[in-house]
Amino acid sequence: VAFVADSGIHALHGLPDWIQKRLHQTGQLADQLGIPLYLVGGIVRDALLGIPNTDVDLVVEGDGLDFAEHLARRFEATVRAHRRFGTATAVFPDRTKLDLATARSEHYPRPAALPVVQPGSIHDDLGRRDFTVNAMALRLNTDRYGERVDPHHGLDDLRQGLIRVLHPLSFIDDPTRLFRAARLEQRLNFTLESVTERLLREAVRTGLVDRLSGHRVLAQLRLICEETHPWAIVERLDGLQALQAIHPKLNASDQVRQAFSAIDREKHAGVSLPKAFWLFYILALVHAQDEQTLAALLTRLRPDRKLAACMAHLPAMRRLARAVTEERIDTPADFFRHASGLSPETVRFFAWTSPEAAVRERCAAYYLRDRHTRLSIDGHTLRRMGVPQGPAYGRILEAVLYEKINGHIHNEQEERRTALAVWAALQKKEENETPGKTGE
Ligand code: CTP
Repeated sequence: VAFVADSGIHALHGLPDWIQKRLHQTGQLADQLGIPLYLVGGIVRDALLGIPNTDVDLVVEGDGLDFAEHLARRFEATVRAHRRFGTATAVFPDRTKLDLATARSEHYPRPAALPVVQPGSIHDDLGRRDFTVNAMALRLNTDRYGERVDPHHGLDDLRQGLIRVLHPLSFIDDPTRLFRAARLEQRLNFTLESVTERLLREAVRTGLVDRLSGHRVLAQLRLICEETHPWAIVERLDGLQALQAIHPKLNASDQVRQAFSAIDREKHAGVSLPKAFWLFYILALVHAQDEQTLAALLTRLRPDRKLAACMAHLPAMRRLARAVTEERIDTPADFFRHASGLSPETVRFFAWTSPEAAVRERCAAYYLRDRHTRLSIDGHTLRRMGVPQGPAYGRILEAVLYEKINGHIHNEQEERRTALAVWAALQKKEENETPGKTGE
């Protein structure tokens, strides 16, 4: 049973000071304009649970964009309006922001289509939402500050730790909600209410996931991978057959679990993690798949170029890893030659997750050190040293780079010396390959 604040006022008092200040200010402005104003969505849920959340979502019964303009004038905020949705983001001089929307009703013209939206009441607005715990509002007007609007008994579900849809067509209207349900359930350590779970399974069984664009499915996977404990959600989605609905071969196998825990370890170690850390969990989810399945996933999910390259390079990286374990690759330069055509994140993924220590070490050395290796000399240096200009330049510099990667070169002088030696060897080879040429 979750701890839940006993009143809306209590919940609001638990919010950070800057948010409380903004809520009072906007509440007073709404009073002056004579419009009802509410705090809504995830922040209400989390405030009642005492969980930190700084995504301030406000709804006005009236013109949200107009209210945003008033806010902008009064508090020197800049407003970015999204007219089509009747929403706006206000950014204040101290860089804090809040989102504003016009209370609206929604209906879905067909399953999984984007909804048709009309202005409506706060009840309409709450009624179009996904789960009861997300469908509560707290009034912000001064005389009714903290009053809870909870037509779907979200507070009861919050107390019981249940994720419950508002109506039986919820997953049909918006199948992304089935991913959201599992994500929220696992994050809060709640349970899917039994009818909701049945509806979710039915939505999966009847192929509703297929109606979502690749972009929307991937956005859900990304949100999952950005959670604190993504593995629990992946496992849950497997149990609900929802992973398989994305592609029949996706699953929460032991191999996938091991990759997730290896990446968890890196996340907790926390040394210079990239912004797009979620990408590594996506790789963990798909890394064990064969080439054909990976190609199908690329077609299905349509990731951006970077993620697409990371996924597409998995099979080649797998072959390279096998070559390392079988000791067919034994120098750093040898590894570099093969790895440099691959996306660095794919190599880094193997540095973190490969079960073979030799592979992890090679990949880490490449990712952290070898791929950054640069020479002090260049084509100009070769010319000054008297090497005749031509295609040999590329081969000489490459050979010197490999020697440097292999640790045989320590300064510019050694680079020059090696370059000349390589050039001499190339000339000799050429002579041997064209017999008679020099004898004529
Ligand atoms: N919402 C919905 N259906 C969706 C997406 C969102 O009903 N498919 C509603 C929910 O009421 C949700 C609110 O819009 O609370 C805001 O959406 P979002 O910011 O995505 O959700 P949060 O609940 O704030 O989730 P999180 O805590 O992950 O930010």
